[in-house]
Amino acid sequence: MTNKIPEDVIENIRKANDIVDVVGEYVQLNKQGRNYFGRCPFHDENTPSFSVTQEKQIFYCFGCKKGGNVITFLMELEGYSFYEAVHMLAEKSDISMPDVASKQEKGLSSENQSILSAYEWLGKLYHHLLRYTEDGKAGYEYLQKRDIHEQSFETFQLGYAPNTPNFVSDFLEEKGFHQQLLIKAGLLKLQSDHNVVDPFRGRVIYPIRNHLGKMVAFGGRAITDHGPKYLNSPEHPLFQKGKLLFNFDLAKRHIRKERQVILFEGQMDVISAYQAGVRNVVATLGTALNEYQAKLLKRYVDTVIICYDADRPGIEASYKAANLLKRAGCAVKIAELKDGLDPDGYIRAHGATAFDQIIKSSDTYMSFYMRYIQKDFNLSLESDQLAYIQEIIKKLAMIESSVEREYYLKELKERFNVSIDSLKEEIRAHQKNSSFRKDKSERNRYTKKTIHIQRQKKLRPAYVNAERVLIAYMLQDPLITDRVQKEIGVDFNLEEHKVIVTHLYGYYEAYDTMDISVFIDWLKDEQLTELAVELSMMDVATHISDQEINDYMHTIKRQKEYVETVKEYKQQQKLAEQQNDPIKAAEIAMEIIAIKRQLENTL
Ligand code: CTP
Ligand code: MN
Repeated sequence: MTNKIPEDVIENIRKANDIVDVVGEYVQLNKQGRNYFGRCPFHDENTPSFSVTQEKQIFYCFGCKKGGNVITFLMELEGYSFYEAVHMLAEKSDISMPDVASKQEKGLSSENQSILSAYEWLGKLYHHLLRYTEDGKAGYEYLQKRDIHEQSFETFQLGYAPNTPNFVSDFLEEKGFHQQLLIKAGLLKLQSDHNVVDPFRGRVIYPIRNHLGKMVAFGGRAITDHGPKYLNSPEHPLFQKGKLLFNFDLAKRHIRKERQVILFEGQMDVISAYQAGVRNVVATLGTALNEYQAKLLKRYVDTVIICYDADRPGIEASYKAANLLKRAGCAVKIAELKDGLDPDGYIRAHGATAFDQIIKSSDTYMSFYMRYIQKDFNLSLESDQLAYIQEIIKKLAMIESSVEREYYLKELKERFNVSIDSLKEEIRAHQKNSSFRKDKSERNRYTKKTIHIQRQKKLRPAYVNAERVLIAYMLQDPLITDRVQKEIGVDFNLEEHKVIVTHLYGYYEAYDTMDISVFIDWLKDEQLTELAVELSMMDVATHISDQEINDYMHTIKRQKEYVETVKEYKQQQKLAEQQNDPIKAAEIAMEIIAIKRQLENTL
């Protein structure tokens, strides 16, 4: 599908959004020479190989080879469609977009579009009432008492649902929404007397946004002691609690940048931390963390810091969440709040700096585990001490880093006055356990495989290199492109190179000079985009002689001829076989080998 947004609008939007600024919101970038470097948000790495070139307005990772322009960056990172990415950039730079295709949220049924739209209307209304009207005063005062800033009203689009049963039905039905749909979406509730009421009436509204920032549900907090403290929208096609994390859309960029995420239990904790400047924060929606959410987090980040209430249920839930996250492959830390407070209470009582300190000094999984299982033992008894140590040893045996193991062994030694050697002996006994070894051999296989792939890449045939270098020059120079077009047209050997040069010829008909960030939008294909960026980042000399260009073209042509010749010979060989002439077939096979050798010798 071609995008229906006019080229010049996209052009303006692109000009208004420097790639260094946009990427910089997700990645810590440092300037080195003409480029900026940071740690790649698309793969795990410790040394920065992710580069942003301001001049060309593109990004490229020398490690995983991902590359693109400001639009594809957002598509990749945020999961936006082309339209969504452009739209988001337009909003950032206050450029108005023509209304083309905007209502066509990709793939949504009209019913689902109506649900989104109903939430949007009602969310805005609740928000307006809270901030500016007498009807919302109760909610306003409640939030003020809880030290929620005005800015957070805006950021989280907080609202208030007035205590008037027909308010919502009147408002939304007048806008043309069907009652049935509103019931399905959880915005109205059918009572036994067949009347419909606003289920959230009299509550402060915390809109729940999906990962693209669209409201799909409400959380309603009671401001009196009547009824349940929280009420969430029931699940509907666009709202599955187990698949969402509260605030994920806003937190994403901070999660990437900080390379860790703080996981809370309560929406209020998120709001409190966010307004205190800790922004890589999300929460589950009144349910325990599940595998889906753990995997979702793992896709964005290595380290998850669990920060649950400091009471017994909070600790139990932390333990469960920690195990789940570890299984998903995350490094886990557990923040320990003091005085039985929840994060929101802690921040209000002790301030943002103290909270930051708590996060920074959060426990490793192992320290937390050592504390956690203490409840099952009476450590004043020697027998229990030994049993406790055994439990710890079991876990320690699974830790790979010997440095880390030593650390906890020392702790055990000091606490229980046991010899390190005997502890190590115990660990070795546990490690004989087959599952540990299996883990290791699988990892080895994996490393071998990646080395193999890397090696393959280095050994490119000469004609592939010739095509790559030539395209790299063509991406800089319309004159070279012109020559190549006249000489070999699209007769490149690799399919992806053919496609790129075809687009290149078209591009230079429309533009005099190359703007790679514009060009890659022509390709409309992730793999081609990455290849084009890779080639445009190739370190080629600024000047190339005509002779060199001829040489490259020659290599390409010869390969083409070679392939053609071999194809012909193979056909003859087949024919000879069919005619039961094995001697002729063998002769032809020899010919093929000779041609191949000749080609290799002249390289
Ligand atoms: N929750 C819920 N229904 C309840 C109580 C809690 O859905 N009756 C969910 C909410 O998502 C809430 C989370 O569980 O944010 C944590 O509950 P709790 O710690 O009791 O609430 P707080 O977040 O501390 O809420 P508040 O500070 O407003 O009391
Ligand atoms: Mn609370």
